[in-house]
Amino acid sequence: MKVLVVGSGGREHALVWKLGQSAKVQDIFVAPGNAGTAVSAQNISISDSDIDELLNFAQEKRIDLAVVGPEVPLALGIVDAFQAAGLLIFGPTQAAAQLEASKAFAKQFMHERGIPTAVSQTFTDYEMAVGSRHALTLPGGVVVKASGLAAGKGVVVCDDAAQAEAALREMLLEGAFGAAGSEVVIEERLSGPELSLLVLTDGKTAVPLAPARDHKRAYDHDQGPNTGGMGAFAPPPDVDEALIEQIMQTIVQPTIDGMAALGTPYVGVLYAGLMLTADGPKVIEFNCRFGDPETQVVLPLLESDLVELMLACVNGRLTPDMVKIHPGACATVVMAAPGYPASYPKGLPITGLDALPEDIMVFQAGTTSQDDQLVTSGGRVLAVTARGENLETAVARAYNGVDHIHFENAHYRKDIGRQA
Ligand code: AMP
Ligand code: GLY
Repeated sequence: MKVLVVGSGGREHALVWKLGQSAKVQDIFVAPGNAGTAVSAQNISISDSDIDELLNFAQEKRIDLAVVGPEVPLALGIVDAFQAAGLLIFGPTQAAAQLEASKAFAKQFMHERGIPTAVSQTFTDYEMAVGSRHALTLPGGVVVKASGLAAGKGVVVCDDAAQAEAALREMLLEGAFGAAGSEVVIEERLSGPELSLLVLTDGKTAVPLAPARDHKRAYDHDQGPNTGGMGAFAPPPDVDEALIEQIMQTIVQPTIDGMAALGTPYVGVLYAGLMLTADGPKVIEFNCRFGDPETQVVLPLLESDLVELMLACVNGRLTPDMVKIHPGACATVVMAAPGYPASYPKGLPITGLDALPEDIMVFQAGTTSQDDQLVTSGGRVLAVTARGENLETAVARAYNGVDHIHFENAHYRKDIGRQA
């Protein structure tokens, strides 16, 4: 088979790595990819949101399966376009991708179906939003969210009404997030540990992958600004089979059934971002794609052939017994450019990748080749990953990998998987 992977981050490198292990796969193309995907696959210089060009390429090359990493092409309707051309593509349609692309849609959907989530109200008018005293004075504070896609930046967790008003002003009056912030969700602030549960689904049946936890803040002990994710591990020791079963029954299956009932079945990977509250697991957000960096720990723990699973999803014949998970644990530490998530330099030479212990996997994210030298080209540069018989071993191995790798002033957290 010829496979096309759309995207360019650590998630996509991990997808290429796992898809490439399938006996079914001959060639993998990545659009646009990075220096890591260029080693084991063929990079194509097409932007991940240029749907027309991606479709042209897929038709010309007779691609047998396309796999989409990021949310933007999904929200733009890449799946609809490929399906209309008779091509197989793994991911939700534009209508189904609304679960991520419109928080207003997702919240209404969950409220209507009794899917546990934070209490919320949606507004497009600043005066109405600020005037809604109820919304601003929920016990425990509120969270203000841009409804549309804002690359993970459109969420403001507020300690008091003044902060909430400032966030509403920014989004609704000052257009800080453009159209994505012209509609906002104000919701109850929840507390508890977070959990990322990624499930594969064919639109009817949903099967969970290994549960994972990411570290979103830039600095140790969850300090500093939010980032795309500074590391992840799986499975979290506080998450057992019974909890996964509860999440599947109260959240995931009602979501899959509800989307089918709306006439917009959800096919692909559904990422449930959850908070484990004292009242049970609740949805913080849905994503319509694999998580980054969760994918870098979830796929190494997947024993089954990912191509077969994706084909089963696309063809509507997924069964729970098809998904086999390795025992043990996996951890990934993100090495970021100095300054990330604010401004950072590019072009820093990276060394040490050629002399790594065998048990380390490095998924590249913001990398490129310059005159045969591997250099940094983004904020999150590498995801240094290892499996182990338990979490402690996996974490120790991943950090051993980090110690072998060098670029100037590399920034990484020292506490990934360690407070668990
Ligand atoms: P999101 O982009 O929706 O995942 O939000 C980013 C982060 O904001 C989450 O990982 C949580 O840490 C936090 N957050 C979002 N919604 C809530 C909420 N209702 N209560 C508390 N924290 C939240
Ligand atoms: N790790 C968070 C995300 O992928 O959205």
